[in-house]
Amino acid sequence: MEIQLSRTMGGFKPFLFEELYRKEKQERAKGRDIISLAVGDPDIPTHEGIVECAVRELHNSKNHRYPNTKGNERFRKAISAWHKRRHGLDFHYNDEISILVGSKEGIAHLPLVVMNPGDLCMIPDPTYPTYRTGVVLAGGEVYDVPLLEKNGFLPDLAAIPQKIADRAKLFFLNYPNNPTGGAATLEYYRELVKWARKNEIIIAQDAAYSDIYFTEEPSPSILQAEGARDIAVEFYSVSKSFCMAGWRAGWVVGNSKLVCSLNALKENIDSGQFNAIQNAAAYGLDHFDEIVPEIRRRFKKRAEDFCNGLKKAGWRLSMPKGSCFIWARPPVDIPSEQAVVKMLEQVGVLAAPGAGFGKNGEGYIRFSTTEPEEKLDEVVFRLGKIDWNR
Ligand SMILES: Cc1ncc(COP(=O)(O)O)c(C=O)c1O
Repeated sequence: MEIQLSRTMGGFKPFLFEELYRKEKQERAKGRDIISLAVGDPDIPTHEGIVECAVRELHNSKNHRYPNTKGNERFRKAISAWHKRRHGLDFHYNDEISILVGSKEGIAHLPLVVMNPGDLCMIPDPTYPTYRTGVVLAGGEVYDVPLLEKNGFLPDLAAIPQKIADRAKLFFLNYPNNPTGGAATLEYYRELVKWARKNEIIIAQDAAYSDIYFTEEPSPSILQAEGARDIAVEFYSVSKSFCMAGWRAGWVVGNSKLVCSLNALKENIDSGQFNAIQNAAAYGLDHFDEIVPEIRRRFKKRAEDFCNGLKKAGWRLSMPKGSCFIWARPPVDIPSEQAVVKMLEQVGVLAAPGAGFGKNGEGYIRFSTTEPEEKLDEVVFRLGKIDWNR
């Protein structure tokens, strides 16, 4: 019998980064010295205090039983206290916060909670791919909202056709932004929330890089905008801010109906995250000031040095306002996939082609700064040797 896969599966392309991992592996198997800046997977080890807390928690047999999907009180209370300190906002740990097994799964599941087949979701272009995944799972349709350099990589709300705004059910945003490094201000969020309320659109703001910001002011939460709590949720992650990508912990916060409904869906799918990991992440939030500013300082210095090096090599770019990424155009106009192949073949550097993030990513290359400083310097050196006419 030939196995017939579902139409839903037909709607998926291989996850962009999985493709890039495969390509890197192939080149390494040929014996080549490849440096990959294709994927945003922090190299900096998780803070020793968090690791030690996890070891203690691992020995506590209470943690060996099933967790609950919503997350334990220790973690949710730590999240609530952190939002109060970080944004001055009060969220009730019981019905305005729910933990996630990494923010990616919450993002992928949210459309199932609010969209019916055929409903419309607006997603940024270029984009982090998981928003589209969620819409495909829900049988919805996507409207790509351009993020253009001339607009600071923010959606131009006035340019969104009214018939799209009338139809859209959900709008995913992501600031500080992957892949462009753009940032949103609280003023921007205020406008956006007004616009979304007028058009009755739910906002899901992905704050995975909330604490990897390079602006003078800390990156704001959309939930600081008046009225946001009526229509918005925000997704947070410990993966980047705490360099805990492998631990798989994040949370959703904001509108209570959305938070509780996402949790109600997930209760049917997963059983939450290991309590030892939740408690270690809670320790991290409690010790935020000792841990995160140093990580932010390192990513900022890496971004500055890398951008300066690229500029000297003729690349066209502006310094990111946050995230672990540099979004840059090569010295010559060339399709991004061709540029990636030239880089890989000539100097053994792998980066992510902008076109993989959407049509407005064409012409750009995304470099991730989640490798040690020496490797980033070596990449800059190697890129300087590329003959773009070859
Ligand atoms: C924009 C964005 N959102 C969400 C995620 C998912 O993060 P995690 O599932 O590790 O919390 C990532 C990971 O790369 C990301 O870049």
